[in-house]
Amino acid sequence: MESLDLLSPFLFSYKKRNFVVQEGLLPQDLDALQHIEIHPSDIFLVTYPKSGTAWMQQVLVQILDAAHPELVEDTSNRVRVPWLEGRVLDKADRQRPDPRLFHTHLSVDMLPHGVQAKRVKVVYITRNPKDVLVSLYNFAFSWTMLEPPKSFPDFFEQFLDGKVFMGSWFDHVREYYTARDQMDILFMSYEEMLKDLRAEVVKLCAFLGKNLTEEAIDQVVEMSTFHNMKKNPKANFKDLLEKQRYRSETMRKGMAGDWKNFFTVAQNERFDQVFEEKMSDWPMAFIWDSKQ
Ligand code: A3P
Repeated sequence: MESLDLLSPFLFSYKKRNFVVQEGLLPQDLDALQHIEIHPSDIFLVTYPKSGTAWMQQVLVQILDAAHPELVEDTSNRVRVPWLEGRVLDKADRQRPDPRLFHTHLSVDMLPHGVQAKRVKVVYITRNPKDVLVSLYNFAFSWTMLEPPKSFPDFFEQFLDGKVFMGSWFDHVREYYTARDQMDILFMSYEEMLKDLRAEVVKLCAFLGKNLTEEAIDQVVEMSTFHNMKKNPKANFKDLLEKQRYRSETMRKGMAGDWKNFFTVAQNERFDQVFEEKMSDWPMAFIWDSKQ
């Protein structure tokens, strides 16, 4: 079932946050999601939107295909790594063979309880928030479920206020980091993946306990480059373009530092000030452009 077909955007408040989610996705659905049965071998990909979800979907599918050849399926990554809250309680998603992959943008307190209780593997990707903002801004013009922003300055302020799709970036990353000891979680960085995808795939395989040959790792990397994903119908989401859910490609630029093409000097200073206020104690360094 393609539940997304039925949906359109609206804003509602859930547990003191503002999320722009899909019509048809009700607070009680989100509550029900917390009780779905989790298998110990499940793997959860968690991201704040536009942080490299589709990229990691591709990497994870390639790793699992190499490690479990019996699981290879001729279907898109959207089906292989279903969006938990986008395909709410879809039976087919839950009846897939183990190990199952899911992806979600939900905040840590809204995850299915079993994720923590069964200590399933969670992969969390961070991306520098200036590029996340720009990517989300562009995506809001593309995805028919989101309201196109009035202007970049408007969207910029909404992002800093957390009044965008899936709420505050600052809260999302912080809450996952704060909960790290209660979970089996690996933090990965979009920019580190850009710098050395192979090294990141090796790290990920070790975390997932998947023993791949050198050739298989090379193959995962090759299949997951921006260039190759862009022309791969299983990975590039172009079917959603054809179905008129997207107005433009989501495989847009795939780089670090695109924010420099959007931010004014004043906006950059303002962003840095808010970032400093909210993230001054943050232990991980962000990479703000490809020259770093
Ligand atoms: P841009 O809009 O900056 O180009 P998500 O999948 O979480 O929605 O993230 C989308 C962003 O990831 C987009 O960023 C997209 O281009 C980028 N992306 C997707 N696949 C990628 C890849 N293989 N390498 C680098 N970036 C990739």
